[in-house]
Amino acid sequence: MPLRVVQTIDEVRAALTARRESGAIGLVPTMGALHAGHARLVERARAECATVVVSIFINPLQFDRADDLARYPRPLEADLALCERLGVDAVFAPSAEEIYPEPPDVRVHVGQTAKYLCGAFRPGHFDGVATVVLKLFDIVQPDVAYFGEKDAQQLAIIRRMVADLNVPVKIAPVATVREADGLALSSRNQHLNAAERALAPALFRALTAAKNAVAAGVSDAEAVKRAATGTVPVDDRLRIEYLELVDPRTFQPVERITGPVVAAGALWVGSTRLIDNVLCTPP
Ligand code: PAJ
Repeated sequence: MPLRVVQTIDEVRAALTARRESGAIGLVPTMGALHAGHARLVERARAECATVVVSIFINPLQFDRADDLARYPRPLEADLALCERLGVDAVFAPSAEEIYPEPPDVRVHVGQTAKYLCGAFRPGHFDGVATVVLKLFDIVQPDVAYFGEKDAQQLAIIRRMVADLNVPVKIAPVATVREADGLALSSRNQHLNAAERALAPALFRALTAAKNAVAAGVSDAEAVKRAATGTVPVDDRLRIEYLELVDPRTFQPVERITGPVVAAGALWVGSTRLIDNVLCTPP
């Protein structure tokens, strides 16, 4: 089936009605500016589902900074070409008015899982994510939806949402795709100039130092965090927003490490904010 690009909820529903009989529908929700990380999600969906839908929607509800929303890249033609190459069946690329004809009065509110890390530094962000993802699930009604481990707190929140609200969608996690130097692929990496790009792998290096400390048997979270942050070069352009060790399911900070923990960090590189995380397992 050739790639279909649809903008309205009615069109995407109509396009999928006929396809539901033929097997599973896989949804890959994105905000566009697609890169090899997104492609990995799509490839998984393509391998596992009869029909693959990619949504491209820059969700205003989840942006806590107007400048971040304004400068978010929007290379729609290139995104569509990539989807075509990857054998996507349908791209759903609605306007903001289509998704939010008026500001939603009823929204999804995330509790404890959104309390720390990005949730603490980006007020309202995860309520906005959960709300749009639930809407996309209701619009597309996929059997499976694919999310990257790169955004581990988001993934934990979506898992919790489908459990708490009995949403009949299977959540499939996909491992983080990285550059050769460890930098996690992100649509925001293109904001980095050459010097900033050279500094950016500091985040993955710090998280790897945390992983190594945990693997070596360090069980005091503060000591692990010190070992990690100590690897970040002192540089005016680098600022650690947070570096935390949390429970992989609840995303609550841990003090003593007695099982697997997620080391998660946010690093400002110039005016660009990068996030990443690494699973750490004690010996
Ligand atoms: P976006 O940042 O476009 O990411 C879309 C999906 O791609 C997310 O599940 C994200 O975790 C995954 N992804 C991004 N970079 C990745 C990488 N390097 N490796 C593996 N997966 C990666 O996340 C969002 O959009 C939005 O919050 C959304 C869920 C679409 C709701 O608006």
